[in-house]
Amino acid sequence: MSAAIEVEGLVKRYGTLAAVDGIEFSVPPGTVFSFLGPNGAGKTTTTEILEGLRHATEGEVRVLGLDPWKEGAALHRRIGVIPQDFRFFEKITPKEAIEYYRALFHTRVDPHALLEQVELADKADARFDTLSGGQKQKLGLALALTNDPEICFLDEPTTGLDPHARRAIWAVIRTLKREGRTVFLTTHYLEEAELLADRVAIIHRGKIIASGSPAEIIRAHGKPARMSVEGSPALAAYLQMNLGASAVVEDGKVSVTLSDKGDALKVLTAIEASGLPWSSFTTTQDTLDDVFVRLVGQMDEGALKTEGTP
Ligand SMILES: Nc1ncnc2c1ncn2[C@@H]1O[C@H](COP(=O)(O)OP(=O)(O)O)[C@@H](O)[C@H]1O
Ligand SMILES: [Mg+2]
Repeated sequence: MSAAIEVEGLVKRYGTLAAVDGIEFSVPPGTVFSFLGPNGAGKTTTTEILEGLRHATEGEVRVLGLDPWKEGAALHRRIGVIPQDFRFFEKITPKEAIEYYRALFHTRVDPHALLEQVELADKADARFDTLSGGQKQKLGLALALTNDPEICFLDEPTTGLDPHARRAIWAVIRTLKREGRTVFLTTHYLEEAELLADRVAIIHRGKIIASGSPAEIIRAHGKPARMSVEGSPALAAYLQMNLGASAVVEDGKVSVTLSDKGDALKVLTAIEASGLPWSSFTTTQDTLDDVFVRLVGQMDEGALKTEGTP
């Protein structure tokens, strides 16, 4: 099946600023794609180009095979959108809001079923201005679903929400995927992408600096796994000599780099064979968060150096 979203050589300039600077990616149907990046990275600009709300400066964009800018009307019937900072009329209730959208889109969706789906049925008749941040986002999700969309575009749907409300939104996103929909999710929460996304692209200053599944990105850009053992410098020296492993003493512990999973067993066997005293051990591996912080840090350092050279 062809891609739900296809982007090639996309550029968006605002005056001299290249907010999106030559990016490409594609999103297979029925998957969750997370577009990760710090504030100002170019996430909303890209998202709104995909939704047909902004015009690309350069590049090729296809959403469900359509050109979002030229074929917006056809596209809008098939996608659902929650804009960043979703707001609605203050006095309207969730039920009325859905009825309003239903009339607008000429759909037959059952407001109650939709509110159940986003776990907001108990607030069906509450005024918008009395809803919590999480409940407002759930209404946004419900409205994005009124036209039974093939793709849902969610621009930072959990920013500013408490952990409980964020989890509730995650549950809805998982349901959307189970229903076979494609989800395009922007976020600056790394663990959210790690938990929900099939594929992730990390965008920084308009450029994609890493992409793939969370595991692939960690493998490609993360530090190797490490085993940390409570032991003496003598143990570090022993491991270094007998395994050729890189073993160093860090914070009073012996830290050994593992180049693959099987190494853990070799290290433990060598430790036992050394006859030297040791106690507990832990293994650690980079998270997407560690990788992100490092990649963005490296990019910023590079940018500073370039800016600093005459
Ligand atoms: N309409 C606009 N006019 C000028 N600059 C803009 C406009 N929209 C966004 N920008 C700039 O483009 C960059 C990317 O913004 P945005 O896409 O909103 O990033 P993100 O959603 O990742 O925070 C920022 O530097 C922002 O200030
Ligand atoms: Mg944004």
